[in-house]
Amino acid sequence: MTQLTSSWSDLRGKCPVSGVDLDYRPFEHHGMYAFFAEAREAAPVFYCPEIGYWVVTRREDILPIFRDPDRFSAAIALSPVKPLSEKAVALMQTHGYGAEPTQVNCDRPKHTRIRKFAGQLLAAKHYAKLEPGVRDLVREFCAALEGRPRVDMVRDFAYDLPARVIFLMLGIPDEDTPKIKEWADNRLLLTFGELSEEAQIAAAEQMVDYWNYCTALVDDRMARPRDDYASQLLAMRAGDDDRLTINEVCSLVFGLLLAGHETTTNMTTNALHALLSHREQWEAICADPSLIPNAVEEVLRFASSVVCWRRRTLEPVEIAGDTIPEGENILLALGSANTDEAHFEDPLRLDISRENARDHLSFGNGTHFCLGAPLARIELRIILEELTRCFPNMTLADGEPLDYIRTIAFRGPEHLWVDLNGAS
Ligand code: HEM
Repeated sequence: MTQLTSSWSDLRGKCPVSGVDLDYRPFEHHGMYAFFAEAREAAPVFYCPEIGYWVVTRREDILPIFRDPDRFSAAIALSPVKPLSEKAVALMQTHGYGAEPTQVNCDRPKHTRIRKFAGQLLAAKHYAKLEPGVRDLVREFCAALEGRPRVDMVRDFAYDLPARVIFLMLGIPDEDTPKIKEWADNRLLLTFGELSEEAQIAAAEQMVDYWNYCTALVDDRMARPRDDYASQLLAMRAGDDDRLTINEVCSLVFGLLLAGHETTTNMTTNALHALLSHREQWEAICADPSLIPNAVEEVLRFASSVVCWRRRTLEPVEIAGDTIPEGENILLALGSANTDEAHFEDPLRLDISRENARDHLSFGNGTHFCLGAPLARIELRIILEELTRCFPNMTLADGEPLDYIRTIAFRGPEHLWVDLNGAS
């Protein structure tokens, strides 16, 4: 932290630039959109001492940051937002945890080299081939809900489903789902949450197992190649470390084994919550499934599962008229950009026919634009097609609390209870 910002850090909640009082709670999701609306107006860029980040809230300021890798590094995208305890770090180091930056937290030129390979496999034409398998899985999960009047759409539906889709790409057996989901949940909290030291150590132990699982998978594909992601990366590598090292291949598998499902699990339940809370929009897609593709874009805009993302300044920069020094942490408030009235008319209204819904920044923008966006769109479309067909009378269950996971970036409910046949 620079001298400038550390001297500001005691101004808890008060923007040092505008002097406006702000009650930003970075781990809290209730009231977040209303807060951002206020911030965009009163202090579009403000400093949050609790986490040591400058928060950028306007779409017109966020977009150029995504598009300027010369001045904004992505290297901190996966750094623990709350520094890890020495014990947790030592545990990971001494037990061989070796994941290295390859994608979302990797800068040029390494990122360009690796994206050239990974991007050939994480591409729309490959995802399109997965569509029948995704449909079968979604139908299997819908069938498992039949006959149960009240279900939790997180645990009974969206929690495992996207992981099973990614397992199709990675050739991972279904029985490994519970442990991988648990590892991924803890990796998310270790990176984006605020765990106690004890919880950090428990999560760090799991990270070692998680990493070892990925290296064992890559070892296996070296010995017995298959038609899956790791085998194809190894084939592209062709034994040449200048193309990809073995550790980079392991890190790419480790990366996909989080990015590929935690995002979509939360997005599925956010989408359902948004549509069921706006009954007429749910009924519209039940009556006319051709409205679903644009409804997918609108729920991505209105209730994204990734509401903030991170960059670091590589030189002093001016954002919205304020100068931010070199080496500062920047939090890009994607949820705020997606509800910015300067770009989206009546932004806090869910409107599945919104013409510019696809202008959301939920998948980022520029050199790191999400490589899974086409797959996430396929999954969400098929999920909505099948759920509206099987359970058109579904309603949100009365009297159930809606608690969100506590992280600065990922947004999704812990549980989402619904009555599949409507309220009795
Ligand atoms: C609704 C679901 C999803 C959301 C909201 C989402 C969001 C994001 C965001 C915000 C980024 C960072 C972009 C940037 O820095 O400019 C990203 C990157 C990435 N995502 Fe996704 N994602 C989703 C689903 C997926 C899926 C299903 C996969 C895998 C199949 C995936 C793979 C990736 C990868 C590999 C990157 C790194 C790209 C790079 O740095 O070159 N994502 N995603």
